Amino acid sequence: MSTRKRVAILISGRGSNMRALIEAARAPDYPGAIVLVVSSTPDAEGLKFANSAGIATAVVDKARFGRTDADREAYDAELSAALEDARVEFVCLAGFMRILSSGFVRKWDGRIINIHPSLLPAFRGLKPQAQALAAKVKVSGCTVHYVVPELDAGPTIAQAEVPVLPDDTVETLSDRILAAEHRLYPEALKKALAV
Ligand code: GRF
Repeated sequence: MSTRKRVAILISGRGSNMRALIEAARAPDYPGAIVLVVSSTPDAEGLKFANSAGIATAVVDKARFGRTDADREAYDAELSAALEDARVEFVCLAGFMRILSSGFVRKWDGRIINIHPSLLPAFRGLKPQAQALAAKVKVSGCTVHYVVPELDAGPTIAQAEVPVLPDDTVETLSDRILAAEHRLYPEALKKALAV
């Protein structure tokens, strides 16, 4: 019987990190198997790749839910049901643009991770690449961390640095960081699955 952990990836858009994880998990000795991709929106670009790769997909459409605590819990209950149906053991957030309830996060404590395009704890929250440029730092990068109820605040699993060049725009810096993300996330997931 396979000892690979059953992993779900949660996305909202392009899904390039999802793709990097799916491709890495094709290696026979990779410790995780991607068994499900869940999107918070039906038109996420990443769903197409997941489908073409033969991976089960589900949509829990955030448009059907409001922003109250009750809505958040209802959303997370549907998400939990999708994860349970697929017997998921570990969750990777990859550009998932919805804040999860603290109940959900606590339930998955130690088994849910995220990638963020800055060297946390620097530049938490939205547009971290623009924050890095505004702060005129010389080095930025990306972080894979455990998810805790506080946003972008959980323990770091792995980080990768990239230079910030004098003529960088948000776009050029984001592209450089994204290339590093695609290398970092599969390695960090491997490390987290070994714990
Ligand atoms: C990445 O920069 C990731 O770090 C951030 O959202 C972006 C998602 O990109 N959380 P993609 O959907 O993986 O291409």
